[in-house]
Amino acid sequence: MRGASEVIIALDTPSLEEALGVIDVLGDEARFYKVGLELYTRVGPRAVAEVIARKKRVFLDLKLHDIPNTVARAARAISELGVDLLTVHAAGGAKMIEAAREGLDSGTGLLAVTVLTSMAAEDLGATWGRQIESIPEEVVRLAELARVSGADGVVSAASDAAQVRAGVGDEFLIVVPGIRPAGADHQDQKRVATPAHAVRAGADYLVIGRAVTQAPDPAGALRAMVAEMDLSL
Ligand code: C5P
Repeated sequence: MRGASEVIIALDTPSLEEALGVIDVLGDEARFYKVGLELYTRVGPRAVAEVIARKKRVFLDLKLHDIPNTVARAARAISELGVDLLTVHAAGGAKMIEAAREGLDSGTGLLAVTVLTSMAAEDLGATWGRQIESIPEEVVRLAELARVSGADGVVSAASDAAQVRAGVGDEFLIVVPGIRPAGADHQDQKRVATPAHAVRAGADYLVIGRAVTQAPDPAGALRAMVAEMDLSL
């Protein structure tokens, strides 16, 4: 039986000060934060340490994709930082995913990224050298590859989440980004979903960035989105 869905706030800021400002302003409203490539590249492991020092959980979204030995060693170093969730690309293959899982300790969940939502069927076809009939089919295929290789879950657009859930079962985590409140500006996101839609589609975690962090009242915006999640139950 899956528990209630939770929110992860994306810290897409260029500096540690701005990231910590987001955490301060949200206070007890948020318990889980995503550190991505920009912040990690600019600040390094200290970005993770400072979030953990504030008693928050960390999803380190580095989307690793390299040979198994390199990924295993990086995964071990990441686990030692005290990270709760880490991403790798499912396209790195079964051996790479297995190596990542072996490198991580049991306290760090391993998520696979299947198909980047920036890619259309033509882009994927050109990359893989074969006709792609359906992106959701590729997403579910890669999610299953990740699952049997030891991943604990996937990152998925809300539009694919229900198919992934049906394909991989209830024990697999589904993390859904691209969340906007009902009726909001989509910004540069193409495949967006409301909190209620994402929860209904089977999301365990909703990654929310600008809709909260750039709101005039971030804590109020987050409370409103959490209320929207509850509407779906
Ligand atoms: O658009 P928003 O500011 O809510 O984005 C939140 C986070 O989700 C960002 O860090 C972005 O990289 C990530 N993400 C996404 N859409 C995807 C995959 C990841 O918005 N399809």
